Formats: sequence, structure tokens, C-alpha cells
Amino acid sequence: MKIFNTKQEINAYLTSKKEGNKTIGFVPTMGALHEGHLSLIKKAIEKNDLVVVSIFVNPTQFDNQEDLIKYPKTIENDTKLLESVSCDVLFLPSVEEIYAENIASEKFDFDGLEHQMEGKFRTGHFDGVGTIVKTLFEIVTPNRAYFGQKDFQQLQIIKKMVRKNRLPVKIKGCPIFREADGLAMSSRNARLSKEHREAAPFIYKTLKKVKSKFGIENAVTVTEWVENQFKEHPLLELEYFTIADEKSLETIKNKESNKKNRAFIAVYAGEIRLIDNIRLK
Ligand code: PAF
Repeated sequence: MKIFNTKQEINAYLTSKKEGNKTIGFVPTMGALHEGHLSLIKKAIEKNDLVVVSIFVNPTQFDNQEDLIKYPKTIENDTKLLESVSCDVLFLPSVEEIYAENIASEKFDFDGLEHQMEGKFRTGHFDGVGTIVKTLFEIVTPNRAYFGQKDFQQLQIIKKMVRKNRLPVKIKGCPIFREADGLAMSSRNARLSKEHREAAPFIYKTLKKVKSKFGIENAVTVTEWVENQFKEHPLLELEYFTIADEKSLETIKNKESNKKNRAFIAVYAGEIRLIDNIRLK
């Protein structure tokens, strides 16, 4: 696996590959890799001649400095994992390499997607995500880029950015990878205390019940039911639960048969914030 730290080096290498008509699959990450990331990389390997993974903990998408400082960093293990799945290129830039002296986000208009759910609780988060993903796309020039559906709102926002800016890259959304007990895989799971880790599968258990309830009850009743479940939980604190339209990400009032709905949840397990979602019928 080739490892590059500068834009210039990776760009020169990938330009030479593109001249030979090689297609590039790209998986942007913030490191602390797990099976979920590896599943994206495997998908990229199936469809592209060359697979690039970036590891960059992007400061501009964190609204909480402590979360940024404590974000897990496991670069040695990440490198081993990437080699084990035959990743071709790792891009590992420094903050200075990406932002120079100006660690700031560009302002984006994602047609309102950015104001829903995560956008209400994490100020500026999606401007930070848009800034880094657009910058990485310019450096890597991928044919396809792969994102997990755990961050479903992020996925929809990146698709929107690509459409609005006519970027020449196909965005591929990939299914959520779960631990055996149902907890959605996340780099932040490593920071859970033992008791919070044991409690966390309650989130997906609740989402599965939501899926069956939504067949017979309306969105408001199901939402109240979820809120009550968490009020009674001693270790997990609900930040939001909503049933929304997959396209607009707006909370639905009534079921519409021609629309796809998804339930979204954010929960604090101690100081660790976990998100998850499930497609509803
Ligand atoms: O999903 C993530 O890990 C990050 O938001 C991303 C897409 C790598 C941008 O920093």
C-alpha cells in the first residue's frame, strides 16, 4: 500500500493512474477503522481498479472541542487493517496540509437538508463535512466514493453537494454494519464505558420495534412511545427521535404511500453521542 501525506504527491500518483484509464474508488474516513469501514473498502475494490482511503480527523466538522481532542486515533492498527484488505493507497494528510493557516469551513446551501436532525444539534457540522469532502474529491478525483448509511443525513447531503456542483463522482451509500448485539458500528463505540456499551444495543432494539409499530400506528404515537422508552432508561439519554422522509429529511406528519420513510435517532450514552437509523416500510 502506498502512503501519501501531501496533496501534490497523491495527486501526481493518481493522475498518472488516471492517464492509464484506471478507475478510482474512494473511501474517506476519520480513522479508528472498523468492519463497517472495511465493508466500504471491499465494495470499492469490487468496482474500481484502484482504491484510495483517506484518514483525516477533520477539525471543522466538530462543534465540540473535547469530542475532537478525544476522537480515537489508532493509525498503526488502521494501516494494518488497510493492508489486510489490499487497499492500494492511504492518504494521510496533516491539518496544515489541508487547511494551511485557515482552519475554517466554506458555507454551503444544501437546500434545507442541513437544518434537519443533526443540523439542529451540531452547529456548522455539515459545512465542515461539505468542505472536507469537496476538498478530498478535488485531490483524489475519484470515479466513485463510498459512504455508510449510518450517517444517512451526511450521505444525502453529499449527494446533494455533488448534484449541485456537478462534481464528476458517483456517490454510493452502503448498509449499516452492526455488532452482533445490534449496535451500529462507529469509531466512537471504542470510547463507551463498559456499562454504556452494555446498554447501547437498546437503541437498535427500539428502532426495530419502531419498524413494526409504524405498520399499525401513526408517526406521532410512535415518536411519543420512543420518548417514553428513553425517559425510563437509566443510562441512555435521548437527544432526538424522528420519523422523516428519506429525500427531504423533514419529519413526517402523515404516512404517504409514495414516499420512503426512515426513523432517525441520536442518544447520549454517558458523554458519547451515538446515532442510528432504520428504513421503515
Ligand atoms: O463520516 C465520516 O467519517 C466523516 O464525516 C467524513 C465523511 C470522513 C468527512 O470527514
